[in-house]
Amino acid sequence: MMSTPRIQDPENVIQVKNLSKSFGSVVAVNDMSFCVKKGEIFGFLGPNGAGKTTTLSILEGLRKLDRGRVRVLGMDIDKNAKTIKSQIGVQLQGTSLLPDLTVFEQVQLFSRLYGYQHNRPEIMSFLERVGLDTKAAALPDHLSGGQKQRLALALALVNQPKIVFLDEPTTGLDPQSRRVLWDLIRELCDQDKTVVITTHYMEEAEALCHRVGIIDHGRLVALDTPGNLITNLAGVSSITTSVNLPLDEFQQLPTVIQAQHDGYKLSIQTRDVAVTLRFILDLAQKHCLSLNDLHIQQPNLEDVFLNLTGNRIRN
Ligand SMILES: Nc1ncnc2c1ncn2[C@@H]1O[C@H](COP(=O)(O)OP(=O)(O)O)[C@@H](O)[C@H]1O
Ligand SMILES: [Mg+2]
Repeated sequence: MMSTPRIQDPENVIQVKNLSKSFGSVVAVNDMSFCVKKGEIFGFLGPNGAGKTTTLSILEGLRKLDRGRVRVLGMDIDKNAKTIKSQIGVQLQGTSLLPDLTVFEQVQLFSRLYGYQHNRPEIMSFLERVGLDTKAAALPDHLSGGQKQRLALALALVNQPKIVFLDEPTTGLDPQSRRVLWDLIRELCDQDKTVVITTHYMEEAEALCHRVGIIDHGRLVALDTPGNLITNLAGVSSITTSVNLPLDEFQQLPTVIQAQHDGYKLSIQTRDVAVTLRFILDLAQKHCLSLNDLHIQQPNLEDVFLNLTGNRIRN
């Protein structure tokens, strides 16, 4: 499932081979190899302390690696850190905004740091892109959590980067603000930018990312599309109903792993929801039973993580 990265492919805007980084005796990044493709939203999913920020900071040229090779936009991170930094956008984990500068002034300052002399309409168009044009004169203290994160995103975009790195941009946000940010991130991808994002929310990785790298204790334990990860590594769905269908009938379905009745409800573990569901409907009809409470629980990335590591993502 985890294919060997093709290091020469020009479509790979990030190429990492055997990357390791330790802090004293703590191995934060342990022999990671992967590629990020141009135009994709690539997510690192893992619990706190898994090594997401350390990995990102190496890709961003902010930390030195101990071992391995990292190429960003075709350039070696050791030799071309300065050029690479000019072509990437970085939103650090829990970005702190400057308390005494207005939203407008923060964007202006960041643009100048990158050597741009953006005029007022240009800066306002940056703010419009993240829905903050009406907040141009506000100080950060007067912004909501979601607005702060959108400002941090605008700051990561001032240099028109080809790759945008976002370290847990939605942590602590309410579901609606999170969705607004997801839409903005998807728009970046429509503009041909590549997005690398970290998260410990499995729903976020599943909903937003084209491919997800699952990290645990510094190791990349799986890398694939959310759909493939779930199909290959979590595969079992469960169907429950309180209607008492004859258990032995399920033996003829090879995709059913287990069918049991606990006196109150029937639960069926299956590798193929569609086939099993059709079978249940037919069976109910045959026995003249109506299925008034049917529940389907499909596996998610949390199950993938649990299967791979033996732990839950949030413990
Ligand atoms: N500057 C540092 N000094 C010492 N240990 C660190 C430092 N930064 C990170 N670590 C350790 O490295 C591991 C990975 O941390 P980090 O990359 O921040 O994980 P994540 O972002 O997934 O929460 C953790 O065990 C953390 O305590
Ligand atoms: Mg982190």
